[in-house]
Amino acid sequence: MSPTPASQILEQLNWRYAVKAFDPARKLSPDEWHVLSESLRLSPSSYGLQPWKFLVVQNPALRKQLRTASWNQSQIEDCSHLVVFTTLKKMTPAYIQDFIRATASTRGQKPEDLLGYEKMMITNLTDNGRGDTLQPWTQRQAYIAMGFLMETAALLGVDTCPIEGLDPAKYDEILKLTGTDYATVATVALGHRSAEDGYQRLKKVRFSTSQVIEIR
Ligand SMILES: Cc1cc2nc3c(=O)[nH]c(=O)nc-3n(C[C@H](O)[C@H](O)[C@H](O)COP(=O)(O)O)c2cc1C
Repeated sequence: MSPTPASQILEQLNWRYAVKAFDPARKLSPDEWHVLSESLRLSPSSYGLQPWKFLVVQNPALRKQLRTASWNQSQIEDCSHLVVFTTLKKMTPAYIQDFIRATASTRGQKPEDLLGYEKMMITNLTDNGRGDTLQPWTQRQAYIAMGFLMETAALLGVDTCPIEGLDPAKYDEILKLTGTDYATVATVALGHRSAEDGYQRLKKVRFSTSQVIEIR
């Protein structure tokens, strides 16, 4: 593994900004999308449970409806790829057992060897193990994947805009998630910035290192 030079990482992170206007003519290449979709799949999650589905919405009619459910933000329609982050509303023993089976077959183990792990997750995460905090917990996992995706995009020279300015219940209706195990959390629009987007020329507003990082 050869590390990316520090100066290059900082250059790319300073290059990234939340794009307000995408160039609708510029699409991501299949190679770029491959890396980006792998960054979603490789994102870490608590217990490794991956309580998410990433919906890639490319249908223009759906994009149009989603835009109206997102404060009419143009990025929804103009980006190359729109990823909607959805997470599980509840955790079931069946989901956990699927994960255990996948772990055992990937690592050449027997599911019985993982019984303790399975039981611990079932106790902690299903029924009233977390009560009302289960969905906020799965939603937090989605934000980790969003961060992974945006950072990977920045390193690749692909633009993004994270979008929380949306009505999750309307998204669920449009994407036919209502009544399923999954619910919308937020989206990330990906593509390339329009030369006309003035936001790319604004200086970043960040508190100083000493204001946000304390060594104790
Ligand atoms: C979780 C989250 C939700 C956001 N939602 C929106 C949004 O709905 N629309 C938008 O234009 N920007 C949105 N942003 C972008 C932020 O406003 C932006 O990241 C912040 O002002 C810092 O600017 P920079 O990312 O350009 O450095 C969101 C950012 C985050 C992290």
